[in-house]
Amino acid sequence: MITINRLHKRFGELEVLKGMDVTVKKGEVVVLIGPSGSGKTTFLRCLNALEIPNEGSIRIDNVSLDFTKKSNKKELLQLRRQTGMVFQGYNLFPHKTALENVMEGPTIVQKKSKTEVKDKAIRLLQKVGLGDKLDFYPFQLSGGQQQRVGIARALAIEPKVMLFDEPTSALDPELVGEVLKVMKNLAEEGMTMVVVTHEMRFAKEVADKVIFMDQGKIVEEGDPSRIFDQPTNERTKQFLSLIQ
Ligand SMILES: Nc1ncnc2c1ncn2[C@@H]1O[C@H](COP(=O)(O)OP(=O)(O)O)[C@@H](O)[C@H]1O
Ligand SMILES: [Mg+2]
Repeated sequence: MITINRLHKRFGELEVLKGMDVTVKKGEVVVLIGPSGSGKTTFLRCLNALEIPNEGSIRIDNVSLDFTKKSNKKELLQLRRQTGMVFQGYNLFPHKTALENVMEGPTIVQKKSKTEVKDKAIRLLQKVGLGDKLDFYPFQLSGGQQQRVGIARALAIEPKVMLFDEPTSALDPELVGEVLKVMKNLAEEGMTMVVVTHEMRFAKEVADKVIFMDQGKIVEEGDPSRIFDQPTNERTKQFLSLIQ
């Protein structure tokens, strides 16, 4: 489903991604871990074409981009539409209801008709357990509820892949579970997912593969139980000792 080759991203002099090679099969859940500043967010933003890599290539399903050549807007938009992204902050429109937030992408970006989009948006909000909160504004919802609206909103464009950037790290501990449960259900339905999270239990239960990255490179990757219980790399060991 996803093939990434030799991905490099620089911000001026700073090289943030130093040649990432990643493959994700259809239906797989890949959990990305690593210290702050190692390039996890930048990596997800490249997959979502919010950042344009300087070198390398990304293929998601049937859309393929080679960044050694200059990409045009249309190609970048095609890549963006392959993925739905859920951010650390909830990033909902504050003046729109839950339902309007979920309808935004398909009506404004994909220019679908409102009636067609509405039924689907309601079903998505029901799916994330918010069927009774359609007309609530973000300020009337808890952090966990807002993040579930964020997931429904990302799903509304019917992405091939879902990207999650520390989706629970801004939540109070008692609200983390409800968001992870929605993510777990999605994974069980066969959604292909790339998840940046330090929720080890989630990674152990749901991930097919864990990638540990540091300073813009993959240091170690493998089966979650292997990475967590028998890491071979010193940097991985040191990092895990801090979060487990
Ligand atoms: N738009 C940007 N301009 C300049 N530097 C950036 C930008 N975005 C991220 N960085 C830098 O890239 C590095 C990696 O950041 P990030 O991808 O956010 O790491 P992580 O998500 O693993 O904490 C950091 O040093 C950060 O300061
Ligand atoms: Mg980050």
